[in-house]
Amino acid sequence: MNYSQTIIIGAGAAGLFCASQLGKANQQVTILDNGKKIGRKILMSGGGFCNFTNLDVTPQHYLSQNPHFVKSALARFTQWDFIALVAEYDIPYHEKELGQLFCDNSAEDIVNMLQTECDKYQVNIQLRQQIEHIEKLEGNSKARFQLQSNGQIWQCENLVIATGGLSMPALSATPFGYQIAEQFGLNVIAPRASLVPFTWRETDKFYTALSGISLPVCVTAKCGKSFSNNLLFTHRGISGPAILQISNYWQPNESLEIDLLPAENIQDFLNKLRQSSPKLHLKTALSRLLPQKLVELWLSQNLIQEEVLANLSKVRLQNLENLIHHWQFQPNGTEGYRTAEVTMGGVDTQEISSKTMESHKVKGLYFIGEVLDVTGWLGGYNFQWAWSSAYACASGI
Ligand code: FDA
Repeated sequence: MNYSQTIIIGAGAAGLFCASQLGKANQQVTILDNGKKIGRKILMSGGGFCNFTNLDVTPQHYLSQNPHFVKSALARFTQWDFIALVAEYDIPYHEKELGQLFCDNSAEDIVNMLQTECDKYQVNIQLRQQIEHIEKLEGNSKARFQLQSNGQIWQCENLVIATGGLSMPALSATPFGYQIAEQFGLNVIAPRASLVPFTWRETDKFYTALSGISLPVCVTAKCGKSFSNNLLFTHRGISGPAILQISNYWQPNESLEIDLLPAENIQDFLNKLRQSSPKLHLKTALSRLLPQKLVELWLSQNLIQEEVLANLSKVRLQNLENLIHHWQFQPNGTEGYRTAEVTMGGVDTQEISSKTMESHKVKGLYFIGEVLDVTGWLGGYNFQWAWSSAYACASGI
């Protein structure tokens, strides 16, 4: 029989940070993880450079059915607290855009920092663990939970679930956290892939010819939320930061409105140009503002005509306005968990204390990080949630 005051399941961002904070407070803590390495999503994150937080973090950067839930944890462990830790370890970093902070060298710097913090405070990390069974112990003993992992029995007073979401099943993502929540009678909001690219419908597949082309757009979801950033055409559909961001606000079967030229008014541009250069071909005029391949594709699909600007009728101008500023993109769906950065939904935050991350129903049971129904925007917000919720939990134990 093994005993640990606290057992954390999951050696990802939230689990490792929570363990180091508990260790720092002289608590005995063990992490059990099913993988063969710690922090594998951190290593893959930010293209290998880990966008570990953002200079501008507010509750408005998060989605949850209970939008006030994040406030307390974000206020108690802020981006500045994490930046101070990164600075303490002399990890070089830079701001890429929009306040997003990335490592200069490698995401490994963040994993090594968390590993060193855990080692410093004697955190016991057990990898390749298959957890078979968890039960609540009744009676007066200190131990509240018993679990079986790799055939061994463990008991603990506090059990912290930090198993993340379902994205990237290749990195051993599992629904384990949701199953534990359900086992103990906690509500789980149906999970779905998010921060995820969209796929083409059959009728739009001609756009695959544009694969690899990127352009600045403004994309708007049916709920009215908009993001201005780049769109990337891929052979499966559309991706890029603007598209990943809007996927947090998209509901299945809805269309998205995309402005392919947010910095210009196409009618004004063409009307002015028509006066100075009436013989200029529409294709040439459009190619001054948009990728030439896109203009040629529209021509080949008869979405625009081969004509000179002098011949552009009012109706054709309006059609161009619709095509360029109001593209109604109807996704076939998303690429799903295979490429999604996060999972929306998860353990219902109404079930959890926003101060300590402890379940209201089950004393000693905590949920932190992405397993909860909290989803951040793209840009370091999901890691900040992992750090902040982990800190709140460690302070509450
Ligand atoms: P996380 O997924 O990190 O850890 C969960 C741990 O639990 C894993 O170690 C897993 O093996 C373990 N586990 C799961 N099931 C288990 C079981 N049954 N038994 C035992 N252990 C189990 N965010 C951001 O802010 N900036 C960024 O740059 C990026 N980039 C990025 C790139 C890619 C490719 C992805 C997929 C995701 C991102 N993210 C991101 C999102 C970010 O990685 C994510 O939100 C955090 O890692 C969540 O931290 P958690 O600790 O909650 O889960």
